[in-house]
Amino acid sequence: MSVGIDDISFYSSGMFLPLATLAEHNGEDPDKYRIGIGQNRMGVPAQDEDIVTLAANAARPLINDENREKITTVLFATESSIDQSKAAGVYVQRLLGLGSNCRVVELKQACYSATAALQMACGLVARKPSVQVLIVASDIARYGFDTPGEATQGCGAVAFIVKAEPRLLSVHAENGCYSEDVMDFWRPNYMDTALVDGKYSTIIYLKALRQSWKNYQEAGGLSFGELSRFCYHLPFTKMGEKAHRKLAVTNGETMDEARLEQQIGAGLHYNRQIGNSYSASLYIGLVSLLENDAEDLSGKHIGLFSYGSGCVGEFFSATVQPGYKTFSRRAAHIDMLETRQELDYEGYASLFSHTSPKDGGEHYFAEEAAGHFRLAGIHDHKRIYTEVGE
Ligand code: CAA
Repeated sequence: MSVGIDDISFYSSGMFLPLATLAEHNGEDPDKYRIGIGQNRMGVPAQDEDIVTLAANAARPLINDENREKITTVLFATESSIDQSKAAGVYVQRLLGLGSNCRVVELKQACYSATAALQMACGLVARKPSVQVLIVASDIARYGFDTPGEATQGCGAVAFIVKAEPRLLSVHAENGCYSEDVMDFWRPNYMDTALVDGKYSTIIYLKALRQSWKNYQEAGGLSFGELSRFCYHLPFTKMGEKAHRKLAVTNGETMDEARLEQQIGAGLHYNRQIGNSYSASLYIGLVSLLENDAEDLSGKHIGLFSYGSGCVGEFFSATVQPGYKTFSRRAAHIDMLETRQELDYEGYASLFSHTSPKDGGEHYFAEEAAGHFRLAGIHDHKRIYTEVGE
């Protein structure tokens, strides 16, 4: 029986900052961001958006009367959690009108946890093929003003349904993992922005890739040559290019620009416009690949590398299903990205300076969110989610 991804959709905030604007403010050459790190824009959340509204907006197109009661598990992956106790997915379950005979849980391991969710979901479906699992990965990446990480901020959420006989992607059982206790990137509970040793984090990322790949090979995985396309965790798109060149060298392969573009290029488009979306980033890259590769990928095998600082890496593979293009949500995704509102530097600085009220008072936020759901306010330490216009 084949198990994997049946449907997938993503969402980012309705506002963005061009990195050229950030470069101008920071006195940097815009090409450092555009070419050096490979980013054009970054998503900036409105005051009435958070990981729950991003996630619910990403998942909404996937839910219908046919699958509402079949989804028996919701796995919410994030590293920008809003609560130490309650899983953010419980809000999403209500907002989407999912059945109440459903388990909901939140998973954390930096940018990696959506892949843990995927592997767990495949296990659940293999054991009971009638069930469907909804996975949502949602994050807001913040490093702070005037830090080297500032240009690699962003926000976004991805949602996908895992089921038997999937229409998009059949996930292979072979995988390779690597974990090591390192301090390359972390965020203590008392901080709103991440701490990062930037250069070290890129070195550890590549080490985790090599070791995960080795473990994937030992597990009987496909060879480099058998994989047609590759998707990587994308803290910034240049990282994906560095990773792919490294993997090619590890396998004694040469990687010229044309081959690099063919094997990973289509998967970079959306992330270049959104910035880092942490746990969602690999899977937004996957959507980008499926929706923008000019070739028909039916029957082709793709390799995926998931990385979460701290660190856990996993390399796994999947086969694109015949007819996958029929279920593409490309038009809606492009429309969402193209209708976002451009911010100037002051607008970005004002939104990124905003922190959630912590006093337990009654706070309501102006309606700025562009999606279907918004965070209307926080009252008595409780978040109030509504539909836009409600
Ligand atoms: N034209 C073209 N390229 C230029 C340029 C110009 N005018 N000016 C600089 N560049 C190039 C540099 O040569 C460099 O390229 P290489 O990496 O190929 O050498 C690139 O632009 C970046 O320049 P710097 O190295 O000087 O950049 P920096 O020191 O300001 O910061 C960073 C880069 C370390 C990635 C920083 O943005 C950062 O700390 N980001 C957050 C951490 C991060 O994303 N780490 C990734 C791995 S960890 C992970 O993946 C988990 C996660 O999601 C966080």
